[in-house]
Amino acid sequence: MADLLKLGVLISGNGSNLQSIIDNIENGSLKAVIKIVVSNNPDAFGIARAKKHGIPFAILKNGDYRSKDDFDAALVKILKDCDVELVTLAGFMRIITPTLLRAFPGRIMNIHPALLPSFPGLHGQKQAVDYGVKFSGCTVHFVDEGVDTGPIIIQAAVPVMDDDTEDTLGARILKEEHKIYPRAIQLFADGQLEINGRKVKIINR
Ligand code: GAR
Repeated sequence: MADLLKLGVLISGNGSNLQSIIDNIENGSLKAVIKIVVSNNPDAFGIARAKKHGIPFAILKNGDYRSKDDFDAALVKILKDCDVELVTLAGFMRIITPTLLRAFPGRIMNIHPALLPSFPGLHGQKQAVDYGVKFSGCTVHFVDEGVDTGPIIIQAAVPVMDDDTEDTLGARILKEEHKIYPRAIQLFADGQLEINGRKVKIINR
């Protein structure tokens, strides 16, 4: 157990990325353990996924905190109490504050459903369809103070078809998300990610 990277997974919804992390842990390709799943949405289906796999979870409701900082302070306490080493945002629909960033410097990852820096923020899939790009995809990046601006770890490209909708494109992008997020986490676990300013180098060991 000593070598397993201790993860905190933050969700707000369906939790299919959480599921892919769980599946990759269970099939042995990701050497990690999920210490806690935290949802800001009490109705998130991802909570049922955590329960099914016997993973501890916590619910922090947005409205229960006076400020974003107060919310993040409560979140940091939970993550620290669980000895979390890497925080993974998996469809966590909140902007995080410096309170969380300072507690886990260089140790927060996010997955975004577009090829950043194109189409940051909400509805990256719809933005791509509306813009008319021929390729979109997904990006795993370290989180910094901006919205989807942090150093990029891995991207996967997905072609956009003429008749794509937000949903059809989103479904194909999601399949790639489920591959690249566990891969990025394993690279972190293996100490293979070196951050130099905006650039992340993958070191061969
Ligand atoms: C995923 O497509 C993820 O990339 C996106 O939300 C979805 C969550 O799905 N995240 C963002 O848009 C963050 N800006 P999931 O709950 O099934 O993992």
